[in-house]
Amino acid sequence: MYLCRQDAIAEASAKGFDLGDQAVFVVRQAGRFYAYRNRCPHLGVRLEWLPDRFLDSGNELIMCATHGALFVIETGACVAGPCRGQSLEPVTVSLADGNLYLQPAAGGG
Ligand code: FES
Repeated sequence: MYLCRQDAIAEASAKGFDLGDQAVFVVRQAGRFYAYRNRCPHLGVRLEWLPDRFLDSGNELIMCATHGALFVIETGACVAGPCRGQSLEPVTVSLADGNLYLQPAAGGG
């Protein structure tokens, strides 16, 4: 499923996508893209505090707006906050001709 142009996501920033009943977001860091379901493992709520604002003030970690849990961009692992030790659920994106695509989850859905 087409998401956006690669250059629609600036370095050290993120972008959210609402795709039917599925919400995901993509973070660009050091020229690579990391994507997760937009769902905090603590309470199952959305993560962003404003549209497309998923990162902490230093743009170094993903931050949940509700209780401030912090997640490693590259792995989705929670390193601080009430869900420490849990992880964001990764989704797979691919890049083709400068476009970002969401890959369907294995097993359908
Ligand atoms: S809902 Fe995300 S840290 Fe509590």
